[in-house]
Amino acid sequence: PTVAVIAGGRNSEHDVSLASAAGIRRALADDYDVLDVRIGRDGSWTIGDRRRVSASVAVAEVLRADVAFPALHGVNGEDGAIAGFLEIIGLPYVGSGVVASAIAMDKRATKLVAQSVGVRVARDVPVSEVRGRGTLPVIVKPVTGGSSHGVSLARTLPEFERALAATGADVMIEEVVVGREIDVAVLEEADGSLSVAPALEIPREPGSVFDVDAKYGGDPGFLVPAPLSALELETISAAAMAIFRALGCRGLARVDFFLDDRGLVFNEVNTMPGMTEHSQVPAMVRAAGMSYADLIRSLIEVARH
Ligand code: DAL
Ligand code: MG
Repeated sequence: PTVAVIAGGRNSEHDVSLASAAGIRRALADDYDVLDVRIGRDGSWTIGDRRRVSASVAVAEVLRADVAFPALHGVNGEDGAIAGFLEIIGLPYVGSGVVASAIAMDKRATKLVAQSVGVRVARDVPVSEVRGRGTLPVIVKPVTGGSSHGVSLARTLPEFERALAATGADVMIEEVVVGREIDVAVLEEADGSLSVAPALEIPREPGSVFDVDAKYGGDPGFLVPAPLSALELETISAAAMAIFRALGCRGLARVDFFLDDRGLVFNEVNTMPGMTEHSQVPAMVRAAGMSYADLIRSLIEVARH
């Protein structure tokens, strides 16, 4: 079978997506024909080594595949755009559909979904409260951001105003959650049942943010399985699956949490999480005894089912 691995995209996570796709193509090389499809930062299509093919040629080429693996992160991809495209052209694909992807791309909307299944979220802090009452520090981040691009910790009012100006209209401001950062990979089997891989902890210095440099600047030193009590693990896994179900995700998702002294706090969902061999989901799945290549192949088989 032929798999169209679609990567790049018109957003700030373009390079992360290319890195995810490179791993995916390597994992598939032995057993599948791989069609290398890229969307440029300018929206142009590249198919294999043919650059700037027209959209109609791109559609015809993608339709030669039996299944698509959209390894796109962020807006214009992970937000449901690529799912919609693949739905319309009638090609099965790995991962969530339009609605789940679109909601998960909006961190504020996703928090409402998490709250609806009883999971605590970080409080949104209005701009007026920061300016009027000096509620600081706060986290300032783009509502639709990914890979922590544009996330900052504002400790003072000038820092806050700078972060606000840099983020623009697509901004959310949250209270700082002081706690451990725990990620959960939720995988859907072909029969629709869900499984959760051993949770992962991102070790952080107290008060620091797992930002772009920490993410891609070297070995982040993930702890897998995260050192959690049986009760913590059960609570966090149940919450991750409940949020996956409430959003209507498919295939896979990474649900990210904090664990503070009062318990679990939902952070965000990635419907197409980073999929390089060193990313969190592959690390978690490996801890469950499944190789990176088997994970990628299994995602494809579930999508084709
Ligand atoms: N948004 C990046 C790719 C991640 O969640 O891993
Ligand atoms: Mg993300």
